[in-house]
Amino acid sequence: MRSTSHYPYSSKNVYYYYCSKVLKFPGTWAVLIVSAYYYMTYDPMAYLWIPLPPADLKFNTGQNYLSSNLASICGLGNHIFEFAALYGLAKRLNRTPTFFIENGHHLKMLNRGKTTVPGLVDKFLIINGSLPSTIRNTTFQKGVCCTFDNPMRLESIKDEYLHLSGWLYQSWKYFPDMRSELRTYLSNSSENSNFGNLPRSDAETHVTCIHTRRGDFLEVGFYGSDPVFVRNALKFLNENEVFGSKKRKTVLFGDDVKFMKKVFEGSLLSTDENQEDATHFISKNSPTADLVYSKYQCDVVLISAPSSTFGWWMGYFSKGDKVYHMDIRYVDDRVYKAGEMNIGDFYPSHWRALKFQSEDNLTVVESF
Ligand SMILES: *[C@@H]1O[C@H](CO)[C@@H](O)[C@H](O)[C@H]1NC(C)=O
Ligand SMILES: *[C@@H]1O[C@H](CO)[C@@H](O)[C@H](O)[C@H]1NC(C)=O
Ligand SMILES: *[C@@H]1O[C@H](CO)[C@@H](O)[C@H](O)[C@H]1NC(C)=O
Ligand SMILES: *[C@@H]1O[C@H](CO)[C@@H](O)[C@H](O)[C@H]1NC(C)=O
Repeated sequence: MRSTSHYPYSSKNVYYYYCSKVLKFPGTWAVLIVSAYYYMTYDPMAYLWIPLPPADLKFNTGQNYLSSNLASICGLGNHIFEFAALYGLAKRLNRTPTFFIENGHHLKMLNRGKTTVPGLVDKFLIINGSLPSTIRNTTFQKGVCCTFDNPMRLESIKDEYLHLSGWLYQSWKYFPDMRSELRTYLSNSSENSNFGNLPRSDAETHVTCIHTRRGDFLEVGFYGSDPVFVRNALKFLNENEVFGSKKRKTVLFGDDVKFMKKVFEGSLLSTDENQEDATHFISKNSPTADLVYSKYQCDVVLISAPSSTFGWWMGYFSKGDKVYHMDIRYVDDRVYKAGEMNIGDFYPSHWRALKFQSEDNLTVVESF
């Protein structure tokens, strides 16, 4: 399970465990089992795993470099964590953040990163090739997603190329105090700034953004969004946030439009014709556009699937920097139950946790 080999079949279980990216199809367990069997035995994407030839590295360059093993098969939220954390670590260690294109999955990750956070990826030295076997692996951030590993012990390492064996790096502590800088690295392209008819946050309008996650998330044991929680959490926000005389608008984001349509009856899709008096909206924009939207329009963000890294970034980049999330301690989430998440490492300390009052009383209250 914890193998870090680059061989496709032995490492695949690890990916199933940490990110649900490869399992796109919602449905029953029967579908899942059949499909899992299909993926294990025949993988049409197998070519993406073929390692590139080792890179021809230069030595005695007068600089030091930092690179890492990467969960390149995972989703966009995971990618941004790896880019941001390695950038933050490299800064702290006075090294150049370096990205080895080791295979096709790495190349896909790199291209996704360039689309979404081009300014951040620009900080990296990109090397077209695998890590040469002459460079040793340094054990760091190993085997867990969301627990901070103190980089102090890396400070004494003098190797020109420092390559870390870990991955995921899902802790804000790897890039402390860098929010305003990281926000500037988001895409500014016009195609990612077209939000359709979604409301704009301004002097008259307050926008609450709710991230949901269903589909594959449920089937691999992460906790998915509960519609009752979403509705009651919005009630909590409406009672506890200060709006003044502003109009309140709510936008749902997520991977499952059918699900989102059921959360608030009559919600307007971002692609629908505009309606002046609409109050509830559903984004059908691209993931990158959703993050850009959050940066400019989300006064408050609610993360309803508490281990979603994409929801995490919606909160982190958001205009208002007021973020609420379902308290993961009260839900059935595999990663948390396995003890891999340190809550204080994963969630910034000013974010606030919500929960149901009790099993019988589904009023949503703050969780302390
Ligand atoms: C968009 O971002 C790029 C860097 O990623 C920067 O060079 C460019 O000036 C930006 N354009 C605008 C209009 O801000
Ligand atoms: C990277 O290397 C691969 C194979 O070694 C090659 O096919 C590809 O063209 C290279 N890409 C760039 C941008 O040099
Ligand atoms: C470093 O780890 C990778 C897998 O993470 C492995 O493929 C490679 O052989 C290791 N390199 C050395 C020098 O041990
Ligand atoms: C449910 O919990 C809320 C919040 O604590 C409380 O105000 C309300 O009275 C409770 N409802 C019932 C029926 O106990």
